Amino acid sequence: MNKDFLALSDWSLEDLESIFSLTRELKQKQKAGTPHQLLKGQTLGMIFEKSSTRTRVSFEVGMFQLGGHGLFLHSGTTQMGRGEPIKDTARVMSSYCDGVMARTYSHAALEEFAENSYIPVINGLSDLYHPCQLVADMFTVTEHKEDYKNLKYCWIGDGNNMANSWINAAALVGFELRIATPKGYEPDPKIIALAEKSGANVILTNDPREAAEGIDVLNTDVWASMGHEAEQEERIKAFKGFQINSSLLELAAPDAVVMHCLPAHRDEEITDDVVEGSQSIIFDEAENRLHVQKAIMATLMAR
Ligand code: CP
Ligand code: NVA
Repeated sequence: MNKDFLALSDWSLEDLESIFSLTRELKQKQKAGTPHQLLKGQTLGMIFEKSSTRTRVSFEVGMFQLGGHGLFLHSGTTQMGRGEPIKDTARVMSSYCDGVMARTYSHAALEEFAENSYIPVINGLSDLYHPCQLVADMFTVTEHKEDYKNLKYCWIGDGNNMANSWINAAALVGFELRIATPKGYEPDPKIIALAEKSGANVILTNDPREAAEGIDVLNTDVWASMGHEAEQEERIKAFKGFQINSSLLELAAPDAVVMHCLPAHRDEEITDDVVEGSQSIIFDEAENRLHVQKAIMATLMAR
């Protein structure tokens, strides 16, 4: 496996499935109260340029359960926030920590950090990708469905970092992925082109009903991601009709499941009744961030 995990394109299908099987084992151990201190005495530096609940808590708790320590750093309170070069910070942190997880705006900055680190670097969300979330999402589907590879998936909403990661997942796993966005909010065409080169089956549409028809897994996310808050009002207008609600869900397969990485704006991109409904696997998805990331850290940081 690559030293770093910055995007799903860093992994083979075999890598993904070995993380799933370690996740299953660690989840069982954690539920049974069986110790699993695979990273005893190790430290993960956690750099955040943006807000977080799930990512921060699941990585920090995950390190604790693995017998190590998660060190929270808000980038604004570090010298990086005052302009210290990324490469210097990366080299220095490599001499103190055993791994780094970073949540950044710029994906290029994350890549520069990883290139200059001697330790594994994990993407905790950048403007381009959110790969740990995708591993947790697909793992959650494996717990609810027989064969996650042979299902049809759709993405309704913004062509953002989550949508880009779903495109990478479609390339890695080979499932059909339909993406419905308003015009002008499509995912990065370069990412689609790369995925298609490796055989991904990605169908783009501006009609959410077309994307939802007979689908097995529905996905959405906020309409204004972190960094786009100023566009909130104009986006609410542009995304009208792109809500996951009970009438859209009726078009899907009868046993379809609904996902959202959270945080959600209830009754904006998804209705409250769908979040709370019997087809929602949203809170399992959130829990699995913990189990999946423990498997990722235990694999990448193994001595
Ligand atoms: N889904 C997710 O990454 O949540 P946070 O922003 O709370 O970390
Ligand atoms: N697309 C969202 C995901 C938050 C977990 C954002 O980048 O803000």
